[in-house]
Amino acid sequence: MTQPRQILVTSALPYANGAIHLGHLVEYIQTDIWVRFQKLRGHQCLYVCADDAHGTPIMLRAQREGITPEELIARVGEEHRADFADFHIGFDNFHSTHSEENRELAMLIYTRLREGGHISTRSIKQAFDPEEKMFLPDRFIKGSCPRCKTPDQYGDSCEHCGATYAPTDLIDPVSAISGATPVEKETEHFFFELGDFEAMLKEWTAGDHMQPEIRHKLNEWLDSGLRPWDITRDAPYFGFEIPDAPGKYFYVWLDAPIGYMASFRNLCARRADLDFDAWWGADSGTELYHFIGKDIAYFHTLFWPAMLRGAGFRLPSAVFCHGFLTVNGQKMSKSRGTFIMARTYLEHLDAEYLRYYYAAKLGSGIDDLDLNLEDFMQRVNSDLVGKVVNIASRCAGFIRKRFGGRLSASLSEAALIDSFAARGEAIAALYEQREFGHAMREIMALADQANQYIDEKKPWVIAKEEGRDGELQDICSTGINLYRILIAYLKPVLPVLAEKSEAFLNIAPLDWAAVATPLVDHEINKFKPLMTRIEKDRIDAMVDASKDDLAARDDSASPASGPLHDDPIAPEIDFDDFAKLDLRVARIVRAEHVEGADKLLRLTLDLGGETRNVFAGIKSAYAPEDLEGRLTVMVANLKPRKMRFGVSEGMVLAAGPGGKDLWILSPDEGAQPGMKVK
Ligand code: MSP
Ligand code: ZN
Repeated sequence: MTQPRQILVTSALPYANGAIHLGHLVEYIQTDIWVRFQKLRGHQCLYVCADDAHGTPIMLRAQREGITPEELIARVGEEHRADFADFHIGFDNFHSTHSEENRELAMLIYTRLREGGHISTRSIKQAFDPEEKMFLPDRFIKGSCPRCKTPDQYGDSCEHCGATYAPTDLIDPVSAISGATPVEKETEHFFFELGDFEAMLKEWTAGDHMQPEIRHKLNEWLDSGLRPWDITRDAPYFGFEIPDAPGKYFYVWLDAPIGYMASFRNLCARRADLDFDAWWGADSGTELYHFIGKDIAYFHTLFWPAMLRGAGFRLPSAVFCHGFLTVNGQKMSKSRGTFIMARTYLEHLDAEYLRYYYAAKLGSGIDDLDLNLEDFMQRVNSDLVGKVVNIASRCAGFIRKRFGGRLSASLSEAALIDSFAARGEAIAALYEQREFGHAMREIMALADQANQYIDEKKPWVIAKEEGRDGELQDICSTGINLYRILIAYLKPVLPVLAEKSEAFLNIAPLDWAAVATPLVDHEINKFKPLMTRIEKDRIDAMVDASKDDLAARDDSASPASGPLHDDPIAPEIDFDDFAKLDLRVARIVRAEHVEGADKLLRLTLDLGGETRNVFAGIKSAYAPEDLEGRLTVMVANLKPRKMRFGVSEGMVLAAGPGGKDLWILSPDEGAQPGMKVK
């Protein structure tokens, strides 16, 4: 074995405004397997992460829920921790970017960059929501695509034709927060002069610090010129306010990667053996790896190394990108029930099934990875239950019943066991290179070989014959030894199966070196089923439950919409506030689809003498023809709001969890349009 290494590993910091889903888990499982592998090899490997707690979406979501951003990130932080723990993601530390450590480090880095002359100030024009009195991030401006004219597109790119553009290019832009038309407003921002680091970045890119595909992308970016990076945002913003620039905050992406350092510093406070500077200082001899999705390569391979260098810190040893998850060959979809939350999965299935499946599909490249639910079930059942665990269950009973649980004192098949142990270095090399799929194939080929051995020796036949006890004990002891080696190889992927197997084998925790020494003249414990098959109905139930989730959960991806269902009750209002609402019965005289809107119907409402045009987000529950002629209740004195598709003059009341289950209440017979509702 080589010298122990000192390795610091990170996964990208998940945003603190939404639940962890199976897409995220590709990354956390990939990283965790690699980290567990390094630890089993005897290296000092530390794995840190944190919640990414800042930014406009988090601020707005908290507002919508009627809580403070601090309350929101505390709650989501707990949910994230629980999800990760239950998927056996073994962080050495999980922190938050909204922490004192991060505030100090962000200030330190910013100050050093400024002192180094790498921060400039300039005035820019940005879209401003005149109603909400705030600048709008691109994602919070919607309008028609300037290229293909598809309505309801975000301010940075078109989901229909893929065009990217500035929000000012949108046709008829509106604020996704208030519906108001944004105005352009001038504001002063700070910029990080990325161009100062061009030579350094070119050199870094040429080194062995990233995958070839990413290097290629990086070279394109470098060739097209490095523009200064806008690192501040104006109040209102949830983040770190810059002490000498009141009203200005660090942009979330400035302090997010610094969160890696902050999480490590927080760990150092608990661990006397860890010295922050020894790991982050410019001349650190330790290794640093960032695992990320390919969507955020830009931040990690350009901005981040430049920030580190500019502030006198070490650079990452490498940035490892992975691809995106598809489910059943398609983008995860809420309507198909394939947008599956970590928690929903756990309510139906064992975490290790997914860990194994992802391992079996992961390589070192950046290709997308498909979770095919049918294949998932078959693969887990046939590999883990049918091949691996089967070896133990075929041998354990005889050892227990016939030999008091004792394995043979010497093994007649030493060569077979040695040949399994001899594969250890090759399999280790595959783990090291993140070729997990290849490693799993190697391990399963060994499992096939072990089963073949048992098939040939037929212990169940020998068991019935007189005077062949020694042989029987030998065969089964060999089988158990082969099983033990396979479990050691699978341990980075399946820590719980490994732990249960160690208890069954009555051995100390396995590490990579342990496979060299076979288990002889040793008493094992009673065999209990170590893993059960996946039944199809559990997958179906998970998919069904994910369809429900959609209605129940407000997804952070669509900033302006959200079912009411799991929203907490809003802050108390006075009776006077309530009395201001003028609720009236209205007859729906016409209901029509709105072209280009996937949630809205346009309603023409008769208030008994007065007609109103109202847009209602009820398309998922009603066809227009179901509504015409019916009565509903509306807020009649709501100030008209300009929306993307026209002006809405009031609002209809609806109740229900969302999706198909949404009711617009129509009062009893005898109600008349215009009648007041009390
Ligand atoms: N907060 C930023 C990262 C800051 S790192 C200093 C962020 N958060 S995220 O929650 O959107 O994503 C976290 C990680 O999960 C990212 O690396 C992202 O690429 C990954 N994934 C999110 N959805 C994914 C899939 N559907 N498939 C695979 N990985 C995905 O980005
Ligand atoms: Zn378009």
